[in-house]
Parts: sequence; structure tokens; C-alpha cells
Amino acid sequence: MKRVDDFRLRFGKQELVPIMIGGMGVDISTAELALEAARLGGIGHISDAMVHTVSDTRFDTNFVSQKLKKYKANIANTDKSSVQFCLDSLAEATRNHVGAAMEAKRGDGLIFINCMEKLTMNAPADTLRVRLNAALDAGIDGITLSAGLHLGSFALMADHPRFRHARLGIIVSSTRALALFLRKNARLDRLPDYIVVEGPLAGGHLGFGLDWAKFDLATLVAEVLAYLESEHLDIPVIAAGGIFTGSDATAFLDMGAAGVQVATRFTVTKECGLPDKVKQEYFKASEADIEVNLLSPTGYPMRMLKGSPGIGAGIRPNCEAYGYLLDANGKCAYIDAYNREVELHPTAKKISVKDKTCLCTHMRNFDIWTCGQTAYRLKDTTRRLDDGSYQVLSAEHVFHDYQFSTDQNIALP
Ligand SMILES: Cc1cc2nc3c(=O)[nH]c(=O)nc-3n(C[C@H](O)[C@H](O)[C@H](O)COP(=O)(O)O)c2cc1C
Repeated sequence: MKRVDDFRLRFGKQELVPIMIGGMGVDISTAELALEAARLGGIGHISDAMVHTVSDTRFDTNFVSQKLKKYKANIANTDKSSVQFCLDSLAEATRNHVGAAMEAKRGDGLIFINCMEKLTMNAPADTLRVRLNAALDAGIDGITLSAGLHLGSFALMADHPRFRHARLGIIVSSTRALALFLRKNARLDRLPDYIVVEGPLAGGHLGFGLDWAKFDLATLVAEVLAYLESEHLDIPVIAAGGIFTGSDATAFLDMGAAGVQVATRFTVTKECGLPDKVKQEYFKASEADIEVNLLSPTGYPMRMLKGSPGIGAGIRPNCEAYGYLLDANGKCAYIDAYNREVELHPTAKKISVKDKTCLCTHMRNFDIWTCGQTAYRLKDTTRRLDDGSYQVLSAEHVFHDYQFSTDQNIALP
């Protein structure tokens, strides 16, 4: 009976256990989690989402309060176009986060950073250029470009000395998006080193509409593999979304995927950045508790637990402190939704915004509980303790379960 450990993900001469832990912002896929994946011979991701607040928490900087202080006078203003990020702070925060992770790395695996294009930060190209180049400066092994088409992102780092050496990959949910990316990048003579094909069962934002259930990962992976073959391109394909057991993973490796990207099973590990009480919510979830909705101001559908405290909250937009989703014109769909409710309820002390959420603030505070569709099975991966809570797992345990299990078995701790 084959298992994941019978396969290796190859980058040139380098051989890795073909398990990649996906990026989970904001600091849900912590450096500690990524370091475990690397130590065990696979690939872990950190994320650069809201990297200032990550740096403030971990490295004693105060980037967020500095920004808030600078723009405090703008809080009551509905026009956020003046709220710009300081690019030097952005570079410094990124270097802090990446540098510390790379310094702590042990073992033969790799650490990548997940960069979401949809973090437009009121100046999309300028901020993304800084994020990508600062991560390369700080020695990141690779960059995974996600949440957006990223058609111009490779060009933003083309002058960096590590542009052709670091591993660069993209996440796509269709062959069409992949073909578009490859066409656009042809003039740079720099192919991606890997392609993550993310299906409709993934956590976070989805590259599908609300009709996500009509699609399935195996079909998407087969289409991408066939397309690459027809183009005579030899690029490793990593399957992602809903891969819950070692046997699920082995099936994708057997059909020609070079690796798998997994995330949901690691949300209940001690290295994961979610607070302990939120990990218990993930364990407790039933299938009926999980929904895909349009609450994210990015416009992409997002999967989350219906009990997320951030759903329906009507907090004042916090763009002066955060502002990661402000578009090139200083707009965010949550600001519009919030202002509409304030106008409709001028005397209310507290309002509720039902159609959008202030994603920056709520992700920062772990109040939007995004998860993959398989989260309702997490309770089957552990034991119940005497106090009724579920035993949190170690990342090593989950990683090894993916690597060595067969027959759809899930090893209990
Ligand atoms: C809690 C959570 C947060 C996530 N955040 C991000 C993110 O910030 N960026 C991203 O590209 N993908 C994100 N994802 C998607 C994962 O990286 C991964 O591709 C996907 O969830 C794999 O499917 P699985 O969770 O069923 O294993 C997130 C997933 C989860 C569960």
C-alpha cells in the first residue's frame, strides 16, 4: 500500500517530503509551525498578511501605533486615500518576520512566505514590490503568490539578485488563470518553480464563486497536468484543498501531483497561532457550522465558521491603524457598508453590518474563523480530555500522520 513517504517533491537536485503547510494569515501559520515543517523535511509557510502587527507582537516594534498616531486625525473621515503605509516600516517589519524564521530554521526542508495580492494597502504595486523584495532580502527560501491573479508580481522582483534562485510559485484555481499568468510572464523568461492548484474545499479566500461545490480538485489537477504536458512544461504541481488524510494525499501524488498543500488539519496544533479557545471551536465544528460567504471586502468568497464573532459586528473601520485592504483609491467595501448602516441608524449606539466584515481588525483579533470544508472532521483526529475539551496536537504528529498513514487511517495522539 503506497503512502506519501514513497514520493518526493523535487526542486532541481533538492528532494523534499511532498507536504507543504499552506500560508494562513494573520499569523495562524506561525514561524513555529513553518519551522516544524522544515525540520521534518517538508515545506512550511509564514504569511506576510498584516506583517506590522506580527512584528509588533514578536519583535517589540510599534509600527501599528506609529501609523495610527500619524493618521489619527483622519479617523472620522470616510475618505481614506491619505492613509498610506510607510514603505521603510513595511520592509523592516517583513525583514524582522522573515529573518527570524530563516535564522531559526533547522533541517532539510524549506520555509516559504505566502503573499496575497489582495492586500492592496492603498498603493498596490509599491507595497507589493517592497513586500516581495524585503522577503528575498531576508533570505526566504520561496514565495507563494496567492489571492489575486498576480500577473505583474514577478516583474516587481525581477531585479532582485535572488529572483532566479529563490523558489517562486503561484496559487491558481483554474487552467485559465495559469495560462494567463504564464503568457503574461513569458517576457521575463522565468517560469514559476511550482504551481499550487487550490480546489473549492480550501480555507481562506476561494478562487471560485458561490457555485464552488460544482468544482472538484481532482478534475482541476488533471486539467492543469494535461495543460502543462501539452505546453511541454515540467513544473511541479501541488494539490490543495480538502486533503484530509495521508491516503487522500497519496491519491494526488499517484495521479501526477508533485506534492500537496494542507492547512486545516494544522489549525488545531500547538504551533498554530490561533488562540486555544478558538482551536476548540474548530474541533467542535459540525458540517452545518461551516459556510462560504461574501463577507470579505476583497470580493472573493471566503469559508468560515458561522459562529465567528466578527460576523455581523459593526465596528468602526480601523484603516488608520491597519488599512491592508484599501484599494489604489483608498476604498474598502467594508467602509461603504459601515457608512450605509450609520446613515440608516443615526441615533444607534451600536450598529451591525451584516453584508461585509472589517477583515483586518477581525483577522488580527482571531475573530473570523476561516477554515477548510473538512474542519468538521477535526474532532476525529484527536482524543477528548477529562474536562471535555479536545487534545491539541503537535505539528509533528499531524505531519507524520500525512506522511506515513495508509488506508484512510488517522493516527490519534
Ligand atoms: C485558517 C486558514 C487560513 C488561511 N489563510 C490563507 C492565506 O492567508 N493565504 C492563502 O493563500 N491561503 C490561505 N489559506 C488556504 C491554505 O493555505 C490552503 O491552501 C488550503 O486551506 C488547503 O486546504 P485544507 O485546509 O483543506 O488542507 C488558509 C486556510 C486556513 C485553514
